[in-house]
Amino acid sequence: MSKQMSHLDNIPSTPGKFKMEKSPYAHNRLRWHSSLAKLTFWSFIFLGLILIFFFRSPSSNPLPQDPSRRSLRTYNWGGPAWEKRVRSSARVRSRNGISVLVTGAAGFVGTHVSAALKRRGDGVLGLDNFNDYYDPSLKRARQALLERTGVFIVEGDINDSALLRKLFEVVAFTHVMHLAAQAGVRYAMENPGSYVHSNIAGLVSLLEVCKSANPQPAIVWASSSSVYGLNTKVPFSERDRTDQPASLYAATKKAGEEIAHTYNHIYGLSLTGLRFFTVYGPWGRPDMAYFFFTRDILKGKSIPIFEAANHGTVARDFTYIDDIVKGCLAALDTAEKSTGSGGKKKGPAQLRVYNLGNTSPVPVSDLVSILERLLKVNAKRNIMKLPRNGDVQFTHANISLAQRELGYKPTTDLQTGLKKFVRWYLSYYSGGKKATG
Ligand SMILES: NC(=O)c1ccc[n+]([C@@H]2O[C@H](COP(=O)([O-])OP(=O)(O)OC[C@H]3O[C@@H](n4cnc5c(N)ncnc54)[C@H](O)[C@@H]3O)[C@@H](O)[C@H]2O)c1
Repeated sequence: MSKQMSHLDNIPSTPGKFKMEKSPYAHNRLRWHSSLAKLTFWSFIFLGLILIFFFRSPSSNPLPQDPSRRSLRTYNWGGPAWEKRVRSSARVRSRNGISVLVTGAAGFVGTHVSAALKRRGDGVLGLDNFNDYYDPSLKRARQALLERTGVFIVEGDINDSALLRKLFEVVAFTHVMHLAAQAGVRYAMENPGSYVHSNIAGLVSLLEVCKSANPQPAIVWASSSSVYGLNTKVPFSERDRTDQPASLYAATKKAGEEIAHTYNHIYGLSLTGLRFFTVYGPWGRPDMAYFFFTRDILKGKSIPIFEAANHGTVARDFTYIDDIVKGCLAALDTAEKSTGSGGKKKGPAQLRVYNLGNTSPVPVSDLVSILERLLKVNAKRNIMKLPRNGDVQFTHANISLAQRELGYKPTTDLQTGLKKFVRWYLSYYSGGKKATG
C-alpha cells in the first residue's frame, strides 16, 4: 500500500508542463513552492466541497446514528426551485380552503387523503422518506399519481427538524395531517428501532416544530385500533381501556396518544387522533393480509388463516379507504385552531380521539371466500394457530362518537370494497402499472 502511494506521489501533477531547474537549491525551492501550491489547491478543493455540501443539504440536524433505523439517508432539499414547488403545491385554490402538510403522503392512506384534499381545492404538500418497509416502487407509483394532480411530495424524514422548520417557513400551514409511521405489527420483532424512530421520535420532532410555528397548525394524526390490545369488551369504544397493547406497534401508537395529550396541555396544540380499523382498498399496503392473500391465491401458494384458541374465529373490522378518507377530511374540517403562539399556550385547545371503523367485523375466512369468488381461483388454506406476536383475535369499532361529531358514516361493505381492490390489483400488476384506482 505504502509503495503504491509513494509511486503515485512521484508523478508530477501536471505531466509534460513541469519545467526542471538545474541548481539543486533552485530545485528544492521549486519543490517547496510546488508543494505549497498543491497544498493551497487541495485546501481550496476541500473547502469548496464542504461549502457545496452545506448549500445543497441545509439539514443541520443529522439523524441519530442507529443502525436499526432505515432512514439514515440524507435528502436533498432547499433552493429557490424547490421552494417554488413547495409553495405551488401548498397553494389554496378554493374559497375557505386549508393548507395541509401531509406526512406519509406516499403511503396508502396518505396518497388517498392528499388526492382528496387537492380535488376540493385545498393546498397540499406531501412529505415522505420512501423507506423500503415494503416495495418502494409502489410508493413511487403513488407519488407519480399525486404529481399528476399537482401534489409535490418532499423527500425527507419527519425526524429532520431543520427540514420541517424550513417547510413552515415557506408555507404557513393551517393543518397537518400526520400519517407517516412505521406500520405493521409483526415487523417489530425484526426492527423495533424503526417504530421508535418514526412513531415516537418522529412524532415528537413534528410536534416540536408545530408548537413553535407561527401560527401553530391544527394536527390530525393516525393512531390505531391496535391501542385496544387485549381489550375484550366489544365494540371498542374510545372510553375503553388502552393500557394492554399486544405489540410494540400498538405501544408506540398508545405512546403517541399520551404525547399528543402533553403537547395539547403544555403548548395549546389542537390535536385529533384517529384510530383506524384495518384499512383496505386500491393502492393498498402489500404487507396486509387482503393484499398478500390476493397475490398468493393468484400464485397458487397456500395462505395462512389464523384461528384463536378452541377454534375461535379471528375477525377484523375492515374499513374501506374512501370511508377513512371522509373521516380524515371531516376531522380536519372540524379541527379548531391551536391556541398557542411563540411556543406558549394561550388557552385551552381541542384534544380529540375517534374510532374510524366500519363497525361490522368479518371473519378472515370470509375475506378469503370473497377473494376466491372475485379472483375465480380456489385458495389453498393453511389453518394455523394465531401466533402471539402482535395480532389480536378481533377488532370491532363503536363509531357513534365519530358519527355524532364528524358526521362519519361508512358506506362500503367488504364485498364492494374488495371488488374495487381486486380490479385495481389486476390492472396494476398486469397492466404495466398504469392503474388509476
Ligand atoms: N392501513 C391501516 O390499516 C392502518 C390501521 C391503523 C393505523 N394506521 C396508521 O395510518 C397511517 C398510514 O398508514 P398506511 O397504511 O398508509 O401506511 P404506509 O406505510 O403505506 O404509509 C406510511 C408512510 O409513511 C412513510 N414514513 C414512515 N416513516 C417515516 C418517517 N420517519 N419520515 C417520513 N416518512 C415516513 C412511509 O414511507 C410510508 O409511505 C400510519 O400512521 C399507520 O400506523 C393504518
